[in-house]
Amino acid sequence: MTIPQHFIQELLARADVVEIVGRYVQLKKTGANFSGLCPFHSEKSPSFTVSPSKQFYHCFGCGKNGNAIGFLMDHTGAGFVETVHDLAQQYGLQVPEDERSPAERARAAQETAQRATLTDVLARAADAYRRHLKNAPRAIDYLKARGLSGAVARDFGLGYAPEGWRTLASTFPDYADPLLHESGLVITGEDGDDKRYDRFRDRIMFPIRSVKGEVIGFGGRVLGDEKPKYLNSPETPVFHKGRELYGLFEARAALREHGYALVTEGYMDVVALAQLGFGNAVATLGTACTPEHVHKLFRFTEQVVFSFDGDAAGRRAARKALEAALPLATDVRSVKFLFLPPEHDPDSFIRAEGADAFGQAVKEAVPLSRFLLEAAAQDCDLATAEGRSHFAANARPLWQLLPTGALAQQLLGEIAAQVQIGTHELEDLWGLRRPSAARYEKKTDVRAPVSAGGQKRNQRTEAPRPAGRLRALPASRASRALQIVLTEPSAWERLSDSEHVLLCDLPAPHGPLFTWLAGQFMDHGPQPWSALREALRGHEHEAFADAEVARVPPDIDSEPAELAGIVRTERREQLKRRMDAALAAGELAAYQGLLRELAESDRAERESRAAAP
Ligand code: UTP
Ligand code: MN
Repeated sequence: MTIPQHFIQELLARADVVEIVGRYVQLKKTGANFSGLCPFHSEKSPSFTVSPSKQFYHCFGCGKNGNAIGFLMDHTGAGFVETVHDLAQQYGLQVPEDERSPAERARAAQETAQRATLTDVLARAADAYRRHLKNAPRAIDYLKARGLSGAVARDFGLGYAPEGWRTLASTFPDYADPLLHESGLVITGEDGDDKRYDRFRDRIMFPIRSVKGEVIGFGGRVLGDEKPKYLNSPETPVFHKGRELYGLFEARAALREHGYALVTEGYMDVVALAQLGFGNAVATLGTACTPEHVHKLFRFTEQVVFSFDGDAAGRRAARKALEAALPLATDVRSVKFLFLPPEHDPDSFIRAEGADAFGQAVKEAVPLSRFLLEAAAQDCDLATAEGRSHFAANARPLWQLLPTGALAQQLLGEIAAQVQIGTHELEDLWGLRRPSAARYEKKTDVRAPVSAGGQKRNQRTEAPRPAGRLRALPASRASRALQIVLTEPSAWERLSDSEHVLLCDLPAPHGPLFTWLAGQFMDHGPQPWSALREALRGHEHEAFADAEVARVPPDIDSEPAELAGIVRTERREQLKRRMDAALAAGELAAYQGLLRELAESDRAERESRAAAP
């Protein structure tokens, strides 16, 4: 269900973040803010700050931040809708029916009802499978032979789907109920009822649960060597493989304890690791790791260790995970890659070598930065100039996925070092920086007659700006502008239309986020970050906006004047670049026009400064 935005704003206006955080964290007043020990990571001295004026919390230690709703979601693991309903109830507010047509609402209500009935059907099936396991010595023997304890089998709700085509009929007397087909439990033939049969037969059953604990699907393993080894539920309205992680619900407490998540490839890996002390393990469901998976994990922990089998397939899977994790690898998060010996997966490794050896392997996992460099260097002979150039070409698309920050900056330096060129040269090569030295040279050209030679020398200025991460504003300036608008929306109101356009035209990721913000402010008026944060939920800009705001300490006020200054500087620089280009192209009239424009804008600025109180 979509909850109207005005209601979220109303709710956030009522729900005091200090009061809500204060229910879980002991807070002390420190100046304008409150501080306490961060509930999201363990610490001895308080780096967790709550700002009553911004209605926002921020931890300098782990970087977690958000509003009252986000805090409750992180703290309780509940979903957004549920949290809003809970809060509304506490403040005596009624969550309004949303502003959709009656037909749309009816369909949404029907979908919600269908989801509930589907998870209900799946829960009943899980119960039945669990009961069947008790009376299936062959299945029990199989699990014992694989070293599983009864306790861990119970924790994960393992079961057994008996042999036979319609054993579910004893649990669901109406075997023709369409829900059995929609939930993926029953396969229906083309021509009607008589072709129906159970999807899972003679298999060990692993129920897959949502983060709320509802059964949303199953994985079923054969007891012998038949194919396919694992059968999974199909995609249904409640089950999406690209989004769900096996074991995440069961891992929640252990994630807090260990402080990191271990991502594996298999059901058996998760269960074996949990049994042997690594309850923080989860698995993707026979699919490559997606950004959605990674995003979901980062709701529960700041550190993720991907574990892969040591074979070629494992390397390929690791590469996918790298690409999924890079856009979310902000400076406060850590991503590592653990490669096991080729003959092992986590299950076989921990059983053969023991929990200590596995713990040691986790400690020695490869940081994301190193894995990126290794992945880029694959098949490159770094002893030759060609190989090093090839390496740079491989590294670029990976590096560009990283959010702006200290990690990206350091990696740039390391890539440059491996290519054996300077960082500035690499920045120029990748078009990340306007070469200030080159602009300086051009200034001296002003006096020289504009010749063909002069044009050649200045060609650099005219080169079209490459797309992507490359930006006209130095990243830090664009980011700072964004941070101000995100945390102090009144600053946006004070800019002119043409200044808005200038910001919206910046290259990605800044420009598109400014464009989104412009639309948002147009529709809803200036909104505080707490409300923007809600509007961004699930949006493509969500992670980037979060990362930018995470870099703003809550006790540093964003000045509208600072934003105006940044925009002015950028406009001047753009004018100067166009002047350089005009000069290089020998377009003297255009050059003089731009010169006048520059003088005009300088004069306007001086006047506005003199007029300011
Ligand atoms: P593996 O083939 O590595 O199996 O598949 P495993 O996890 O080690 O299983 P055991 O130890 O032999 O029992 C890894 C994962 O890929 C998916 C499953 O999610 C499995 O856990 N998979 C594998 C399938 O979906 N279908 C298959 O036929 C095989
Ligand atoms: Mn295995």
